Amino acid sequence: MKVTVVGAGAVGASCAEYIAIKDFASEVILLDIKENFAEGKAMDLMQTASLNGFDTKISGCTNDYSRTSNSDIAVITSGIPRKPGMTREELIGINAGIVKTVSEQIIKFSPNVILIIVSNPMDTMTYLAHKSTGLPKNRIIGMGGALDSARFKYRLAEAVGCPMSDIDGMVIGGHSDTGMLPLTRLATRNSVRVSEFLSNERLDKVLEDTKVGGATLTGMLGTSAWYAPGAAVSSLVHSIACNQKKMFTCSTLLSGEYGLNDLCIGVPVILGKNGIESIVEIELNESELTKLRASADGVVKTNLLLNNI
Ligand code: 2OP
Repeated sequence: MKVTVVGAGAVGASCAEYIAIKDFASEVILLDIKENFAEGKAMDLMQTASLNGFDTKISGCTNDYSRTSNSDIAVITSGIPRKPGMTREELIGINAGIVKTVSEQIIKFSPNVILIIVSNPMDTMTYLAHKSTGLPKNRIIGMGGALDSARFKYRLAEAVGCPMSDIDGMVIGGHSDTGMLPLTRLATRNSVRVSEFLSNERLDKVLEDTKVGGATLTGMLGTSAWYAPGAAVSSLVHSIACNQKKMFTCSTLLSGEYGLNDLCIGVPVILGKNGIESIVEIELNESELTKLRASADGVVKTNLLLNNI
């Protein structure tokens, strides 16, 4: 199993590290445009191998896509992260060109690859990858909802005061500060709905804190977060690489599911060896459907900006 991670910044390097520690891939290629940067990160990570107990071989290269040849999975984290006060959507002017070029280079050397897009604005970058590569829709996956769901579970466990392992919850919709939709109605503590433990007011705060989870950390760190994004995308890679058929919220191209067409947005999918094995249409109430459609409108609005680039 060969995995390429494009972008050796904090998110890409964290993703490579978590993939290596899970030890399911034979090889991880870390690629960056900055001279020797990916090579240095790879060497530093390989020097943890005997300590963290993995045999995965991580190597780095500087903008040499031939080194990514015949990758099974490629993760695209390249582009600029946001700064405090910025929205993810404001990154489109710079990141769209990068994601287009990178996607085209990746499939040139790995025509059978499964692409996972992390770069922001992620839903639009995922849509751009479709337009740029023409890959089958099961082989282009946007990572956002898995991260947002992890942040949702963190906030729920914090509010309920229980171990994280007791909590289950899902965020759907756009990966944006305003568009994501934490499904508070369906979240559970060990199969019991969290509404049994939390007031509506407290649940609303969990929902709002989740929506700005990325922006909150950007304000604290001065740049986008990296541990949870890296962990989230490595979990998607793991499910695909090992055909686990786990269900995650991922940004995927919809063709009528949830009444939505011709956009990529976060919905529950099953991830296996073929990438997106299936899209799961869960029953949403009217309020949730209305919010999902509003979120989709926001994503489409950002997609239209691609016409000006
Ligand atoms: C985040 O929410 C980078 O979009 C990513 O942290």
